[in-house]
Amino acid sequence: MTTIGTPLSPNATRVMLLGAGELGREVTIALARLGVETIAVDRYDNAPGQQLAHHSRTIAMTDPDQLRALIEAERPDLVLPEIEAIATGVLQELEDAGVVRVIPTARAARLTMDREGIRRLAAETLGVPTSPYAFCDSLEELRAAIDGGVGYPCVVKPVMSSSGKGQSKLDGPADVAGAWEYAMGGARVANTRIIVEGFIDFDYEITLLTVRSVGADGGAVTSFCEPIGHRQVAGDYVESWQPHPMSEAALANAKAIAAAVTDNLGGQGVFGVELFVKGDEVWFSEVSPRPHDTGMVTMITQWQSEFELHARAVLGLPVDTSRKTPGASAVIYGGVEAEGVVFDGVAAALAVPGADLRLFGKPESFATRRMGVALARDADVAVARANAAEAASRVTPRAP
Ligand SMILES: Nc1ncnc2c1ncn2[C@@H]1O[C@H](COP(=O)(O)OP(=O)(O)O)[C@@H](O)[C@H]1O
Ligand SMILES: [Mg+2]
Repeated sequence: MTTIGTPLSPNATRVMLLGAGELGREVTIALARLGVETIAVDRYDNAPGQQLAHHSRTIAMTDPDQLRALIEAERPDLVLPEIEAIATGVLQELEDAGVVRVIPTARAARLTMDREGIRRLAAETLGVPTSPYAFCDSLEELRAAIDGGVGYPCVVKPVMSSSGKGQSKLDGPADVAGAWEYAMGGARVANTRIIVEGFIDFDYEITLLTVRSVGADGGAVTSFCEPIGHRQVAGDYVESWQPHPMSEAALANAKAIAAAVTDNLGGQGVFGVELFVKGDEVWFSEVSPRPHDTGMVTMITQWQSEFELHARAVLGLPVDTSRKTPGASAVIYGGVEAEGVVFDGVAAALAVPGADLRLFGKPESFATRRMGVALARDADVAVARANAAEAASRVTPRAP
């Protein structure tokens, strides 16, 4: 794309976001700043990104007919999947027919929509190191896979799930039946397939944001952001920080793995490559072919946040992944089950040194729903982490 039009005019550059949560919302803002017209799609009304986009549409994105009809009616220049649960077959079909360009590619969206496509690609086709794993369709197969090599401790996850849903760690045979039941209840789409993975006793885990953009000569350029460290509780991200210190060898391994995976997936945009690190050894865990939740920290640490990088990369514009300050992010959870919550403590949170805040505007709060994020910058990452956590703790959502 070499030119950008005027929004709401016949020559507008139009981008459709499939998924309009907090990540899609920031991508929408970044695109709007570059003069792009946005269409935010979600499965419920008034999703965070829909509140800011030029147009909002509510459909079941897993329904191939609804998705095809919407894309054909809107005819956007680009489609940006923001979530995994999408009828990716339709994206492939429309991309093949030249109707639309999917970011980064329809194939990447399809391979990463469940844990199986991407894991088999990484481990079996590309040969990058991963935990030992097996896919199982029954409790009997799960027992056999663990006894046959995966071993204990191990982790069971539905193949279609995110944010730790349905995921549990197994320390011995007594945990198997419970883990199977839990996975069946946590799957996002009715489905009985799970992955069981050997537990990696890592020193730390990182997200390596990897950007594929178009270089001056028109060829693909790969750039890396500095490593983002993060802490997960029950499979869900609680805090992240940048930079995370790594040995030179571990960083080189991490970049090689991220380059191998993202080169294969192809296209343009940001990828969140999740890696486990122990000493100089690095394992590939999974990848989001889009901005990553732990990467929200880049809204305070980088000159161009992961959302701005994504917007530029998908439009074929140059990117700059350099960092401006160390910093951290801490998640603000709903804490309550209510609609139209009120946030107390916002001024107190912003009084924390170097702190900033994003409230996502989600119409409904659940106890464990991510409603906002606190950000903090400091020359010392440890101070930034403490301040982000402090700022997050000062914001308290309550029922109206
Ligand atoms: N094989 C494993 N060994 C050790 N920890 C793991 C393993 N798999 C997952 N985890 C932990 O659980 C978190 C969430 O798992 P992940 O596969 O990324 O699921 P999700 O798609 O829900 O983010 C990881 O970031 C990591 O902390
Ligand atoms: Mg993950």
